[in-house]
Amino acid sequence: MDLSNPATLVALFLNLILTLFTVKFFAAKLREKQKKNKTKYHPVGGTVFSQLLNFKRLHHYMTDLAGKYRTYRLLSPFRSEVYTSEPDNVEYILKTNIQNYGKGDYNYSLLKGLLGDGIFAVDGDKWRQQRKVSSYEFSTKVLRDFSTVVFRKNAAKLANIVSDAAKSNKIMDIQDLFMKSTLDSIFKVGFGVELDSVCGSNLEGKEFTAAFDDSSAAILFRYVDIFWKIKRFLNIGSEAKLKKSTKVVDNFVYKLIHNKIEQMRNSNDSSMKKEDILSRFLQLNDTDPTYMRDIILNFIIAGKDTTATTLSWFIYMLCKHPDVQEKVAQEVKEATDTMEVKDFAEFAAILSEEALGKMHYLHAALTETLRLYPAVPVDPKICFSDDTLPDGFSVRKGDMVCYQPYAMGRMKFIWGDDAEEFRPERWLDEDGMFQPESPFKFTAFQAGPRICLGKEFAYRQMKIFSAVLVHYFVFKLSDENKSVTYRTMITLHVDGGLHVRAFPRCQT
Ligand code: HEM
Repeated sequence: MDLSNPATLVALFLNLILTLFTVKFFAAKLREKQKKNKTKYHPVGGTVFSQLLNFKRLHHYMTDLAGKYRTYRLLSPFRSEVYTSEPDNVEYILKTNIQNYGKGDYNYSLLKGLLGDGIFAVDGDKWRQQRKVSSYEFSTKVLRDFSTVVFRKNAAKLANIVSDAAKSNKIMDIQDLFMKSTLDSIFKVGFGVELDSVCGSNLEGKEFTAAFDDSSAAILFRYVDIFWKIKRFLNIGSEAKLKKSTKVVDNFVYKLIHNKIEQMRNSNDSSMKKEDILSRFLQLNDTDPTYMRDIILNFIIAGKDTTATTLSWFIYMLCKHPDVQEKVAQEVKEATDTMEVKDFAEFAAILSEEALGKMHYLHAALTETLRLYPAVPVDPKICFSDDTLPDGFSVRKGDMVCYQPYAMGRMKFIWGDDAEEFRPERWLDEDGMFQPESPFKFTAFQAGPRICLGKEFAYRQMKIFSAVLVHYFVFKLSDENKSVTYRTMITLHVDGGLHVRAFPRCQT
């Protein structure tokens, strides 16, 4: 959200006024109903107005409330918003009674502009069908092998860029580099296309990336702009921009799809390797371009920022904890245990599944990063009918019920007194083997039937990238005194990027 834009400020101001009036009205109505039905509702932590006031430090604000209440309500003009950090409640909404909690018409209407009928925007049969096909595709050896090759190649490419910066002692924004690299990876795996945004050689790709980011930002803005439908009707402001950027995105994606369909039609060779997701979906005989567009854009949104932001927070944690950085480097060295290799690509090539499987400490350090800096900090669901959560408090039809990975990662009642400390060891048993936690406590990947489909894919990519980078370089923050915090967005970006220096690691 661009707070320097006058239109944004006017929209926020009008939202606030309307919120104040309606919250008062609905709070009174709710008290009346509660008295009559003897129903218990969660304590009120504030209003969405207070969320707007605390927008820049939103997750701190909501963590404080979670520490006080575990589950609380924020009053809003149209519905209550229930925020829970209670693992039993999380299990209930994500698994036990999942049929009563979903995206709902509310999220669908907001997201449809960019995500269409893709997996992130829909419920019911539309979701089930895509989940089934996608889970199958993601578990195939072909996709696993192909994506591993892509990750290795892109990790080596990134290491070359870092190496150049290290040689000239240049400060780099590593988050920006991760964003480009993960986009290149998901593009190659998704479409079979070399976008090369990390080197910026593909102009059309650059345009697509900018338009895609603009579209996601405009979609997010709909969540705080109650006038978005009017603006869309009049084709003004953020909605006019969204229309324009979505057109660029669509033109690019449809062109790719048509080219791929043509390529497949013209190919008589049935043994032609169909490794990328698009080709594999087309192979299933579904050639409806709109359906394909939705699937692909949803995978891009899922796979790009999540992995890149996690890698950025991981490097941040390594800079803050040099002892952990050393331990990761030592483990990578032991797990690869090889003679000198000639370049980054050759080293990346020896990162086999077996070698990665030995890296328990690295896996723990990445997981610990996600516990404290979950890529999706808050995840909203809509309640479809009146219900009572396991903690005995009720929620009403139409309420928004959110689990909050960011706040949950910092709760002492879940993780103990050292909850706010970065300690990868908490994930290891006495033999140094990684021990997973209940997904209803560690919620970074969601849980239940809609658990993240790309979890294994993401860990593989993050481990390959981290192993290559930490094996060759020592990372340090460019300015130890500068505070590093998040930017409030759907995904947890480092505000302003992560500026670091890299130094060649001595290979002894
Ligand atoms: C660190 C990396 C990642 C994290 C933390 C993460 C986290 C999440 C979360 C919280 C959700 C639930 C979102 C919702 O409520 O709709 C989700 C869903 C999903 N993720 Fe991931 N994700 C990551 C990487 C990836 C990657 C790389 C892919 C694929 C390339 C992927 C594919 C998906 C898909 C398809 C869903 C939708 C599942 C469904 O609704 O059934 N994710 N992920």
